[in-house]
Amino acid sequence: MPPPSHPAGGGQYFSSRPTSASRPDEVALVLPDLHVRLCTDAGVFSPGRVDPGTKLLLAELPPAEGWPDGDVVDVGCGYGPIAVTLARRAPERTVWAVDVNERALDLCRANASAAGVGDRVRVVTPDEVPAGLEVGLAASNPPIRVGKAVLHDLCRTWLERLRPDGEAWWVVQKHLGSDSLQAWMAAEGWPTERVRSRQSYRILRSTRP
Ligand SMILES: C[S@@+](CC[C@H](N)C(=O)[O-])C[C@H]1O[C@@H](n2cnc3c(N)ncnc32)[C@H](O)[C@@H]1O
Repeated sequence: MPPPSHPAGGGQYFSSRPTSASRPDEVALVLPDLHVRLCTDAGVFSPGRVDPGTKLLLAELPPAEGWPDGDVVDVGCGYGPIAVTLARRAPERTVWAVDVNERALDLCRANASAAGVGDRVRVVTPDEVPAGLEVGLAASNPPIRVGKAVLHDLCRTWLERLRPDGEAWWVVQKHLGSDSLQAWMAAEGWPTERVRSRQSYRILRSTRP
């Protein structure tokens, strides 16, 4: 059995500067429509394999023709499996890849370039996101382990950046609080439905009221 997704030895995957020694590696992202190799490293989320929740989210997203208009964001991009896939699926779109972890951001930049989408994937820290940015589609395997207060702040920030017809898609493990996150978003006024439930993962879709 492969190991569960985990922060690689020493330090949290959501540190801005991971302290764990660099241990470069590569993983394969294999989807029905895309097969790419991605560089990873210690100190980033799920360095040994593409997280199964991430793969489920990418499998469940509608085809790019059905996405709401506008830019796209991968909230908490890590080394970029979601951002790279979204950019490859939608050749006309700008994809924002946002993370606090500088090692992950460097990997995401390199992976986007290697996948031929480096010119359209804007890899930034939360502070570098342009004021007033609006997005049509947000997709995220969010950093649940940062704690509820930070997580809620992050979700609220990106829900508020949705265009009027925008959609946010989340993947969250049930035992990490998918139901309570869904209930919280609904209580905050963001209609949120469970689109899919597979194994321990829940795919949630939020819209504006
Ligand atoms: C569960 S990981 C998902 C990574 C990647 N999208 C994937 O699927 O492999 C969540 C990511 O959120 C990042 N993160 C933590 N706090 C954040 C924040 N305030 N804004 C954006 N990203 C954040 C973490 O550093 C981590 O890379």
